[in-house]
This record gives sequence, structure tokens and C-alpha cells, in this order.
Amino acid sequence: DDSTRELLLSRIRDVTDYPKPGVMFKDITPLLADPKAFTVLTDALAELAVRHGATKIVGLEARGFILAAPVAVRSGIGFIPVRKAGKLPGATLSQTYDLEYGSAEMEVHAEDLREGDRVIVIDDVLATGGTAEASVELVRRAGAEVVAVAVLLELGFLDGRARLEPHLRGVPLEALIKV
Ligand code: PRP
Ligand code: MG
Repeated sequence: DDSTRELLLSRIRDVTDYPKPGVMFKDITPLLADPKAFTVLTDALAELAVRHGATKIVGLEARGFILAAPVAVRSGIGFIPVRKAGKLPGATLSQTYDLEYGSAEMEVHAEDLREGDRVIVIDDVLATGGTAEASVELVRRAGAEVVAVAVLLELGFLDGRARLEPHLRGVPLEALIKV
């Protein structure tokens, strides 16, 4: 609701010209340091996981881990990490995605997801949508179903939602806050 959104938004700090000139960085560390706000956030995401019938929580390295892990504990659902390339020891699936300059690669343990799994993907911010898009593709390639993509904050002016839309195929993109 509105009071939840206001509380969460009030704990996100705008940092100008970080990490480079012209960029406004959304810093979630004040929210993480406030146990009431962090709890409200965790509860809101856990409610989404339950509402969409998720059976697995996928968190995206690194900031997505911080948000998704307590949601998994709170809702009693397993946590699956999607990591930046080269960090997972087992057999992985990997997916490249575009960055502003160049590209990056994310991986998941192939054995962590399978047909019948219902996955909610959790990250902190939706910006251009590249990270979320790659994670949706990874989850599907592992044989699982994406039932929702949930972020704390959607940066509307970057149009990540439009980029993601064709990949979502009707799966809801849930943003607790949109700016
Ligand atoms: C940030 C943020 C999102 C992503 C959003 O992660 O945490 O995951 O960018 O951007 P996009 O929608 O344009 O893909 P980043 O890769 O900077 O690093 P971190 O989470 O490891 O800090
Ligand atoms: Mg990230």
C-alpha cells in the first residue's frame, strides 16, 4: 500500500554522479540498515511469492541476494542463486546479457531447477531490464517456469519493462516502487 511504498522509498538514497558522471545511483543500504523497513520489504516480497504460488526463489547476484534470501527463509521456499560467471562449482547454464558498454554473463546450477518448479525472480532494481531478461531465460532453459519477476524499484525512464515484455510472455513484473 501507499504507506509501505513511502517507507521503502524514504530509505533509498539518491547518489548523484555515481558510479560515473550523469548517473543517479539508487542506494538501498539505508533500507537494509533499518530493520523495520527491511522487514516490510521482506514481507511484501514474501507475499508476492505466496500469491504467485512460487516453489523456488531465484535471487540475482549481488544486491538481489540480499533481498531474496530473507524472503526464502520467511516463506519457507528454497533459495537458488543466479551468479555472475565463474562462481558456481557445479554444472551450470549460462546466459550473456548486454550492459551499457559490452556484455556480462550469469550462471545457475543446472540441477537447482527443473520442470515443475515455479520460480519468482527477485532483484533490487529494474533499470534497462538486461539482468532480469537474462535471468528469465536462464530459469526457462533450466526447465522451470517463471511465475513472477519482482523488484524493489523500477526505473521507469529507462524502459526496462518494455524491453522485458516480449520475454515475460504474460508473466507479471511486480515493482514495489516505480520512479
Ligand atoms: C544492478 C542492479 C540490478 C541491475 C539492473 O546490478 O542490482 O541487478 O543492475 O540493471 P539492468 O536492468 O540495466 O540490467 P549490478 O550488475 O550493477 O551489480 P550488483 O547487483 O552485483 O551490485
Ligand atoms: Mg544487481
